[in-house]
Amino acid sequence: MRHFLTLKDLSPAELEQLIARAIALKAMHRNGETYEPLKNKVLGMIFEKSSTRTRVSFESAMLQFGGGSIFLSPNDTQLGRGEPIEDSARVISSMVDVVMIRTFEHDKVEQFARYSSVPVINALTDDYHPCQLLADMQAYVEHRGSIKGKTVTWVGDGNNMCHSYINAAEQFGFDLNIATPADYKPNQDIVNNAKAKITLFNNVNDAVTNSDLIVTDVWASMGQEEEQKKREIAFADFQVTEQLMGLANHDALFMHCLPAHRGEEVSAGVIDGGQSVVWDEAENRLHAQKALLEFLNANN
Ligand code: CP
Ligand code: NVA
Repeated sequence: MRHFLTLKDLSPAELEQLIARAIALKAMHRNGETYEPLKNKVLGMIFEKSSTRTRVSFESAMLQFGGGSIFLSPNDTQLGRGEPIEDSARVISSMVDVVMIRTFEHDKVEQFARYSSVPVINALTDDYHPCQLLADMQAYVEHRGSIKGKTVTWVGDGNNMCHSYINAAEQFGFDLNIATPADYKPNQDIVNNAKAKITLFNNVNDAVTNSDLIVTDVWASMGQEEEQKKREIAFADFQVTEQLMGLANHDALFMHCLPAHRGEEVSAGVIDGGQSVVWDEAENRLHAQKALLEFLNANN
């Protein structure tokens, strides 16, 4: 069974094909073509954290592909009342064709996948957010062509998105600079295991120099709300500003998975400015996940 729990579940060649397919599916959608490869198929969507983009993109993808989806929140299912993951996995996967999970511990999606009879997609855990990387890589290719050999700089928290960028550096072949406060570095094992050039910085100016893409994310992720104040102090020097973008290459792009906090991790001038491609990243969630759903349907 092929799952999509991290970017490492697909080969570099499969990922490259998937991005090309996402671009083709976007063009078909823009042309108003009806394409229903998942007719009568059902996606189960387990959300233990909030979402706008992930939910809307997966639900729309399934409807446009001729299938349907079921939104499952812990408040309304036995998942929230302690039914074991393995039991839930066996039961839910016996009734749907693919399952998407957004949760806290990454172990949970791995455990679900072990007992699932259908493909499982990681729609964000505390450790990874691979679906967002598909959309980001698609956006980079659309604006600048191949990302192979480029330099990407991650600014801010060494969080789930940062870990997925580390995986992407290996799978898509770019160099990754990571600028974080000392106490908020990415997981050292993930850094050490990456077959890519990953360089850690605590000086953000040094990190962005000569970069082709600058990426950031919120300072406090879902589940860390009570650390907001402490993090605002720790990350005060890690805002992506116009001045910081000025140190990167002149044609550098800016990305953020959203939701964003203007005036915290990014200035309004940058996120709403000419180098920002955040709306393309968001829209591409739809097209990239369609390519992923089609891939998992064809390869299982
Ligand atoms: N970027 C992203 O995953 O957004 P949502 O939390 O709105 O799904
Ligand atoms: N790092 C953020 C990403 C949100 C899409 C979080 O986990 O909340």
